[in-house]
Amino acid sequence: YEAIDPVRYLANRSSGKQGHAIASALAKLGAEVVLVAGPNNLPDPGGVQVRAIESAVQMLAACEAALPADIAVCAAAVADWRVDGEAGQKIKKDGSGKPPALALVENPDILKTLSQLNGGRPDLVVGFAAETEKVVDHAQSKRTRKGCDWIVANDVGPGTGVMGGDENTVHLITAQGVEDWPTMAKDAVAAALAQRIADYFEPS
Ligand code: C5P
Repeated sequence: YEAIDPVRYLANRSSGKQGHAIASALAKLGAEVVLVAGPNNLPDPGGVQVRAIESAVQMLAACEAALPADIAVCAAAVADWRVDGEAGQKIKKDGSGKPPALALVENPDILKTLSQLNGGRPDLVVGFAAETEKVVDHAQSKRTRKGCDWIVANDVGPGTGVMGGDENTVHLITAQGVEDWPTMAKDAVAAALAQRIADYFEPS
């Protein structure tokens, strides 16, 4: 990928902990895993191929390059918008006292793109929904809007400590309904989700 190396940028906040934990949990169950990860401070999980990317456009390209795949899990906090026409140099104050106008363009929706692939769609596409209110309602409509199979919904409202924290309280939303999972460490959420995925492919 072309390095973008921005001085200033727009991003969504995410530690990457949940995505790394899921990649690791799936690998432990024997899956061949490609982890496409944005900037983070986490060690690469063992037994996983890591593709480091910096933007939504690069993330989509890396996901498409990793196909075909049986399963896609989209846990990244992708920014919906990026600045149109990246500045080649650091943007300096011009003395006018007026802030520069930043035009935004929409980023590709990776989950939606993978969910709606004509040919080569992974058999199971799992998305995440970070919500601050009406968590289950919003996640259920997100599942149908994006066209994915499952949504793992979590409440990231102020005071939950989910963003950057080690614990998560999630709801698993499928076509069959909603399961409320107890609050667990992100590693435990990952292990439980990986087991659910394994059971989906090989029901006992
Ligand atoms: O941002 P939003 O709430 O729509 O995110 C829900 C899901 O969609 C997440 O799984 C996220 O990874 C995915 N998403 C994406 N590409 C975007 C925005 C969100 O894949 N541009």
